[in-house]
Amino acid sequence: MKPGSSVTVRPAKHLHGALRLPGDKSISHRYAMLAAIAEGKSRFENYSTGADCASTLACLGLLGVHWERTNNGANVIEIEGRGPALAAPTSALDCGNSGSTMRMLSGILAGQEFTSDLCGDESLSRRPMARIMKPLEQMGARITAAPEERPPLHIAGGNLHAIRYKMPVASAQVKSCLLFAGLFAKGETEVEEPLRTRDHGEVALRAFGADLKRNANSTCIVGGQRLHAIEARIPGDLSSAAFFFCAASLFPGSELVIDSLLMNPTRARLLDILIGLGVRISITQLEEQHGELVGTVRVEGAHLKSAEIAGADSAALIDEIPVLAAIAPFTEEGIRIRDAGELRVKESDRIQSIVTNLRAMGAQVDEHDDGLTVPGGQKLHGAEINSAGDHRIAMAFAIAALRAEGETRIHGAEAAVISFPSFFETLESLVQR
Ligand code: S3P
Repeated sequence: MKPGSSVTVRPAKHLHGALRLPGDKSISHRYAMLAAIAEGKSRFENYSTGADCASTLACLGLLGVHWERTNNGANVIEIEGRGPALAAPTSALDCGNSGSTMRMLSGILAGQEFTSDLCGDESLSRRPMARIMKPLEQMGARITAAPEERPPLHIAGGNLHAIRYKMPVASAQVKSCLLFAGLFAKGETEVEEPLRTRDHGEVALRAFGADLKRNANSTCIVGGQRLHAIEARIPGDLSSAAFFFCAASLFPGSELVIDSLLMNPTRARLLDILIGLGVRISITQLEEQHGELVGTVRVEGAHLKSAEIAGADSAALIDEIPVLAAIAPFTEEGIRIRDAGELRVKESDRIQSIVTNLRAMGAQVDEHDDGLTVPGGQKLHGAEINSAGDHRIAMAFAIAALRAEGETRIHGAEAAVISFPSFFETLESLVQR
């Protein structure tokens, strides 16, 4: 899809089907980065097809890492590890739209004996970087940024020493960044999080052979550990599955099965929320692959009740809130979301994007600084939706459109390419009218 593309979504009667999804974005980024600094050749099947994970690979290429796609059909990527020392880049590392690339790669670059520049697109250039700059500077890196600690970043790395750091924001990107930097630091780095966030960084570090300690809310890593290459199949992306699970949930009589799907408990809170809304969900064929839980999930649609998302749930559901908010008007008693102020500093101000688009569809919604309240029992009409260049907003409103009256046009629909290029085709293949 070209920039400025729009997609028309028509109402649906049901969703039916069985599918498997491209690899999880969070895991793909981390596996690629760790493979780059490991010894030996890593091989990943089902690497994320999203543009964000391609940005990570492109940056690694500029850092002297050889990688290739050996089989486009199965999205197989092979990465030749360089060991801990990457090569100094001769141009800026363009992270595109990907906050994960910029924040997590900065942890590795802080440990390198060279300087590097990281830049991004308009959206990424507005996103806060103080959250990684402060602790990396405490570890000994020298980092400069644009005013208000926004990208582009200039990092002079090397000579890191371990710190004990209490993260002020619950962010898995920051946690992974610091644990990656900890690999290059003298001594033991300890990262404490205010709430439990996704643990893919820890799980991946262990899979590549690192030893980590976990006490209560903190994770410790001793610097100087060597990583070894791995071969893995990356489980299906649970945050992409969320759109289809929410769509199926909306229509009693729908049935959807997704196999080989990521089931990591730090990511699967959506399933609890859907169960609370009255959706029937069964999980089978659970197994562990390199420390990540994978399984098959069956979802059957229902008359949805109500949900309250706050506190630790908001952090655990941060990527799924847009789609939950988009289906909220169709629940009986609505969905209330609080403690989700982080949504304002994602690819767009997601609270504002959700509120504006819900109102465009005729919904009543109350906006709060840290969330929104969407009453239930509402009827929506088709409308002109503005994705604000944000992949999760484009996809969330395609789901709301399935229950609206009349057609909905999603403007800026091409944003889906960031995490899920085949989203609209996959959705059409499941929808029955
Ligand atoms: C991610 C963590 C979350 C999430 C993002 C991916 C990760 O961001 O929103 O899509 O892979 O660690 P924060 O760390 O900023 O909460």
